[in-house]
Amino acid sequence: MGSGIAQVAATYGHEVVLFDSNMKAVEKAMAEMQKALARVVEKGKMTEQAKNELLARIYSTDKMEDYAGSHLIIEAIIENIEVKKSVFAKLETIVDANCILASNTSSLSIASIAAACQKPERVIGIHFFNPAPLMKLVEIIPAVQTSAETLAKAKEIIDSWEKLTVLTKDTPGFIVNRVARPFYGEALRIFEEGLADIATIDWAMTTLGGFRMGPFTLMDYIGNDINYTVTETVFTAFYYDPRYKPTFTQKRLAEAGYLGRKTGRGHYSYAEGAVQVEANKDEALGQLILNRVLAMLINEAADALFWNIASKEDIDLAMTNGVNYPKGLLKWADEIGVQECVNRLDVLYNEYHEDRYRCSPLLRKMAREGKSFYK
Ligand SMILES: NC(=O)c1ccc[n+]([C@@H]2O[C@H](COP(=O)([O-])OP(=O)(O)OC[C@H]3O[C@@H](n4cnc5c(N)ncnc54)[C@H](O)[C@@H]3O)[C@@H](O)[C@H]2O)c1
Repeated sequence: MGSGIAQVAATYGHEVVLFDSNMKAVEKAMAEMQKALARVVEKGKMTEQAKNELLARIYSTDKMEDYAGSHLIIEAIIENIEVKKSVFAKLETIVDANCILASNTSSLSIASIAAACQKPERVIGIHFFNPAPLMKLVEIIPAVQTSAETLAKAKEIIDSWEKLTVLTKDTPGFIVNRVARPFYGEALRIFEEGLADIATIDWAMTTLGGFRMGPFTLMDYIGNDINYTVTETVFTAFYYDPRYKPTFTQKRLAEAGYLGRKTGRGHYSYAEGAVQVEANKDEALGQLILNRVLAMLINEAADALFWNIASKEDIDLAMTNGVNYPKGLLKWADEIGVQECVNRLDVLYNEYHEDRYRCSPLLRKMAREGKSFYK
């Protein structure tokens, strides 16, 4: 992630210092970046000279001291709170008083990282999506300690990189990694209950729902280890809210090393000549699957709005640009009808009597008052 962010900053004319405690990682990242940019040149989207100039703006190092004089540092190291805190504390001894210190963390508390600093008001979350040069969305996360000046400056810089910034509260998973949980979790649950196989669930979500990738294909793409860890982190951080409960199916895959594409086997097999399960393609079953997962996603988006995590516009933009959903979930709720969304959730709740299926108070209130999100 760090090298992708470095590439973006260098594209927009910044002098970039790319630091990693492991010099081999920096060398590998630079080699990959060169290859990726060479492809861009081949496609005629960049001149050879522009590529060389871009690369010349990136200085790679394994000495943190080289950050002296920087205006903005975006940390994208290992997802470990103690390691991040110690790196932030050390960075402060190197940089000037007005340097902004940002974290690209996917799930850790920005307030907690900021607390490691003498000047916590200069710390903020700037969360890119992978691959950073291609994905437009960036979540901006001020901590309780972050100053208005840091927020304004950080947003101005990221906007100048032609990214789409959304503002989100410093809560677990921010917008995207919170609202997207049911896409995986409910699909896994449907599979675990034996209602449908993975191919049928993927078919329903793509062909009937218009999602670019089915949940199981996407989990294999992300890596079942990473996807499981994010789910477990969000679940724990939300004080074990059953809505985010991880599944044994994915835990076992991660334990077995069936991580997905990167290991040649995950929910699916990627071995040459592997026979894949055929989707059932029963329209009624497919619609049932789509309606259930979508109801849970809409509920999650509505609940994020209920808790003022972000504005309705930012929640929809985050999901369409961060994970390429075919429509904003709140806009989708309007199309389905808020009352119908509530009905679908209540059917699930009445069936299972699990807190997981509780309808967001916002959706229920809106249904009662005959309201929609945008009209
Ligand atoms: N991979 C993604 O899709 C993604 C997306 C958004 C955000 N993030 C976040 O970005 C961060 C990095 O993720 P990644 O997938 O690129 O991880 P990664 O493991 O690929 O890279 C992390 C790098 O940090 C280096 N590192 C570890 N400890 C260090 C230290 N103390 N000082 C300097 N360098 C150190 C490692 O050598 C490694 O090269 C994490 O916080 C992650 O949550 C990742």
